[in-house]
Amino acid sequence: VLLLNGHWPETRHKSSFGIAFDIDGVILRGKDPIGGSPQALRRLYGDSGNLNVPFLFLTNGGGIPESRRASELSELLGVKILPSQVLQGHSPFKSFMERYENQLIVATGKGEPAVVMSEYGFKKVVSLDEYASCFENIDPLAQYKKWTTKQGLDRSSLPLNTVPRYDVSSETVKAVFVVSDPVDWGRDIQVLCDVLRCGGLPGQENGHQPQPPLYFAADDLEYQAAFPSSRLGMGAFRIALESVFNRIHYNPLEYVCFGKPDPFVFKNAEAMLKQLQPSYHSDNFKEPGDSGLQSFKTLYMIGDNPSVDVKGAQQAGHPWFSILTRTGVFRGKHNHAEFPADLASQTMKLSACCKLIFIN
Ligand code: G3P
Ligand code: MG
Repeated sequence: VLLLNGHWPETRHKSSFGIAFDIDGVILRGKDPIGGSPQALRRLYGDSGNLNVPFLFLTNGGGIPESRRASELSELLGVKILPSQVLQGHSPFKSFMERYENQLIVATGKGEPAVVMSEYGFKKVVSLDEYASCFENIDPLAQYKKWTTKQGLDRSSLPLNTVPRYDVSSETVKAVFVVSDPVDWGRDIQVLCDVLRCGGLPGQENGHQPQPPLYFAADDLEYQAAFPSSRLGMGAFRIALESVFNRIHYNPLEYVCFGKPDPFVFKNAEAMLKQLQPSYHSDNFKEPGDSGLQSFKTLYMIGDNPSVDVKGAQQAGHPWFSILTRTGVFRGKHNHAEFPADLASQTMKLSACCKLIFIN
């Protein structure tokens, strides 16, 4: 693809490449756009406002439904982002819907974890905030906490038929989902240890109860937020929970982590990018017998975290090509030693990455 006089080619064509953008540390720092992200993203559209280059956001973050994240990003970046262009850490949780559709599950993390899971179709989901509030004295430190927590589920934001009916004293929790970064680590570690070591019924230790399945949306040790240094992420919470659990329980904690660098996430992103190709939606581009789904020559993963974004792209293999920015977690002088990106330069920020992609 040629960069013509500094502009993107105007005619719609079958793009032989696509782009997956990491969010934290590449597109945003906290709530603020960085690296010239609004301008860079605008250039992925043609003059007619149609998408010329398929792209999506591949983030380990989350806490709100994909549709809401898409609207927030559209507003922040000034381009139309579809919900299908947002793949969050917890997006794969949808695939558990059949297994737990009508069973009591607990969801925790910042934002609205129970709303996220309800939108995926889970009928009996309760946030850890609400769950903990059903057990008197479960958090002995609650009285010392100066902040106010929402007591009870925000039922007004749920579809009517998904309001759960449950009795936490007799109904076992069938699975726990860590949807986004937990807010109150101390309370969450306490209550999750209760749920997980008592077979899903806190306070009722009777013999060896199997641990309910535990799923994490991601396993990032650190990520880039608004503060100048990296912040502790969900992986750090996982280590804290696991360390405590393994000291108080006879069986080690069992869990599954989703999100990057899992190659499944990259496969899924590739499938989604194919559907975002201009040709997929236009019969003008289809030849007889052509499904419109074309294989990509290159898929660029632009990320700031070597052990998450670069490692993931490396493991996924062809057609993924990793580009490492220096606006987030990675601050090294040269390329990362253990997970070197296919492209990393000392001044790399998003706008420079996009220019390079188009020149090549
Ligand atoms: O909490 C978000 C963080 O773990 C990573 O987000 O966009 O850098 O994958 P991102
Ligand atoms: Mg990042």
